[in-house]
Amino acid sequence: MADLTKGSYETEIVMRKRVSPSSFLIALSKPDRFTDAMPGQFVSLRIGKGVSPLLRRPYSIMDITKDSIVLLVRVVGKASAALASGKIGDVIDIIGPLGGSYFEIKNGCSVVFVAGGTGLAPLLFAARKWAKERSVGELHLLYGAESSNEILDDLCTGIFTEVHIATLDGSKGFRGDVVEMFKGLSEGGILPEGELFSCGPVGMVKALMDSNTVSFTDHYTSLEAVMACGVGACRGCVVPFKSNNGTEYKSVCGDGTVFRAEDIDWEKWGKK
Ligand SMILES: Cc1cc2nc3c(=O)[nH]c(=O)nc-3n(C[C@H](O)[C@H](O)[C@H](O)COP(=O)(O)OP(=O)(O)OC[C@H]3O[C@@H](n4cnc5c(N)ncnc54)[C@H](O)[C@@H]3O)c2cc1C
Ligand code: FES
Repeated sequence: MADLTKGSYETEIVMRKRVSPSSFLIALSKPDRFTDAMPGQFVSLRIGKGVSPLLRRPYSIMDITKDSIVLLVRVVGKASAALASGKIGDVIDIIGPLGGSYFEIKNGCSVVFVAGGTGLAPLLFAARKWAKERSVGELHLLYGAESSNEILDDLCTGIFTEVHIATLDGSKGFRGDVVEMFKGLSEGGILPEGELFSCGPVGMVKALMDSNTVSFTDHYTSLEAVMACGVGACRGCVVPFKSNNGTEYKSVCGDGTVFRAEDIDWEKWGKK
């Protein structure tokens, strides 16, 4: 049984590698007591020493090695830029592993993974971990980004049965978004029956819900939401769920990040 007790740690950057014009792999030294984590769990980083950025920033765990915790960081603003430009030996304060639910592949099950952008990170962790620890069926990755230079194929090598790429500008693979590609492959009978795991922008996951997923036994998604405390206390990251007694709100950081997509009240989300 994994030891998932969260803690607060001082780590160091032990590896930094640019993998696309906007994304970096950052490996942090793994504290001795940070023994394990599950796919879909994340760490919350204090980036910088001043008051700005004030809030910690959440990052999905992409991999855990004997000595390191590996993150995929896309530069979108001040904190991610500071993290991505860190130097080997820089000290970063983290809390983790956070999140109360995770992706789990059942023995013998096939999974179709749908990733948008850095949503790739927890899905890579899931595929790698469960393929190592279980007998799994076919693992297909459908992966979309704006352009070929943001597609991180090297990170996906040797993990999946097949990788299907979509780019919005058509510079690699299918021209269009990953959900359009999903529909085509699904209707063409190319994808195995089994479960669907997704992670990406909310619009991508909503569109997946609206597309035909009848051949999938279940769809689990790892959600992203703006976070403050990261531990289920402030209710800042809650999402509405369908419930017999009206709407029930669950926190992405404490109850998630992984939820059954069908249980989310997509109509109400964004209207709270
Ligand atoms: C559970 C979870 C896992 C994530 N995993 C990854 C990952 O693997 N790789 C990756 O590149 N990004 C990931 N993110 C997003 C990442 O946290 C944001 O990109 C980062 O916080 C942006 O900070 P910034 O100062 O650079 O940008 P800002 O200028 O602050 O904001 C840019 C955008 O980032 C988002 N954001 C800002 N602050 C927060 C916050 N405190 N919590 C959540 N989102 C915020 C908002 O959508 C905002 O529009 C994850 C987010 C969550 C919630
Ligand atoms: S960030 Fe505080 S409850 Fe999720």
